[in-house]
Amino acid sequence: MTEPMSPAHATFMRDVIAGLQRTPKTLPCKYFYDERGSALFDEICELDAYYPTRTELAIMERHAPALAQHLGPRARIVEFGSGSSVKTQLLLDALVDPVGYVPVDISREHLLATAERLRERYPQLDIQPVVADFTKSFEIPASPEHPASTWVYFPGSTIGNFEHDEARRLLARMASLAGRVGGIVVGVDLDKDRATLELAYDDPAGVTAAFNKNLLVRLRDELGARVDVDAFDHIARYDATRMRIEIFLESRTHQSIALAGHEFALAPGERILTEYSHKYTLPALTDLAAPAGLRLAAHWTDPDSLFAVACFDVDTATED
Ligand code: AVI
Repeated sequence: MTEPMSPAHATFMRDVIAGLQRTPKTLPCKYFYDERGSALFDEICELDAYYPTRTELAIMERHAPALAQHLGPRARIVEFGSGSSVKTQLLLDALVDPVGYVPVDISREHLLATAERLRERYPQLDIQPVVADFTKSFEIPASPEHPASTWVYFPGSTIGNFEHDEARRLLARMASLAGRVGGIVVGVDLDKDRATLELAYDDPAGVTAAFNKNLLVRLRDELGARVDVDAFDHIARYDATRMRIEIFLESRTHQSIALAGHEFALAPGERILTEYSHKYTLPALTDLAAPAGLRLAAHWTDPDSLFAVACFDVDTATED
C-alpha cells in the first residue's frame, strides 16, 4: 500500500508539474533547500569563487557599529529567512540595549535550535522565533517590551532570488512590519563583470552544479519521478540587460521526465530554468524600495564594491 502524501509533498508535486508544463520549463528555486541542498549551499558559501557570503560578513564585521548607531538603542530586529543567524550576531553584538529578536524561517528544527543557542548568548534579549514561509504573509508576536524602533533584517542577497514584482511586494510587507519607526536592512549583491558572476555560479569544483542537480534528485527520490540526473548539465549565464544570473538544467539528449502519469519531453539543449539571482546597483535598489515608502538612509560596501548592506528608513514624511 502506498502512503498518503503529506501536504508539503502534494504542494511540491503540484509546483513541479506546473513548472514542467510551462514554456520554457521551470522548477522553483525554493525547492533547492532540502537537507542535502542546504548542506551544498553551506559549501557554496565557503568557495573561493562565491564571494557574496564572505564579503557581506566582512562588511558587517567592519561596519556593524555604524549600522547599530543608525538603528539606535532599544531596537527590535525581525529577520527574514534567518537560517543560522551568523550575520545577525554581528549586528546584535553591536546594538545598544536591543529589545527583541524575531527570527523567521520555514525550517522549524533549525530555527528552534538557533533560537535556543542565541538565548544562551543573549540572556537579556526577547527571542521570539516564528516558523513561517516569509514569501507569504504571516504575523509576528507582540513584543513583551516596547521597542524604540523595529527593523527587518534581510541579509544574504536573498532579495536577488525574487523577480522585481515579487521583491517589491516583499519589501512592502517588510515596511509594514517595521511600522512607523524603523525600516529595513538588506544585504544585496552588486552588479559587476560577467566573468566574476559566472564563476561564482558555476564554480570549478562543481558544488553549484550539484546544488542545481539536487532538484532532479529530489524529483526522483521524493516524488518518484523517472529522470536521468546525469543527462543534464548545469548552466549559469549572466544577462547583463536584466542584471541577473540565470541558472538552468540543460538536457544533453532527447529524453523525458516521467512524473505522476505525465511525460515531459525534452529536446537536446532544452533548458529548465531553476533560479534567477538578480544583481543591483544602489540606485536600482532605491527605486525598487521607493513604492514601499522606504528611503535609502545609509549603506556600506567592501573596497571592491562587490556587495552592499543598505539601510532603508520608513519614510513617514511621504505619509498623509
Ligand atoms: C540564496 N541566494 C542568495 C543564492 C544566490 O547567490 O542567489 C543562491 C545560490 N544559487 C547558486 N548559488 C547560490
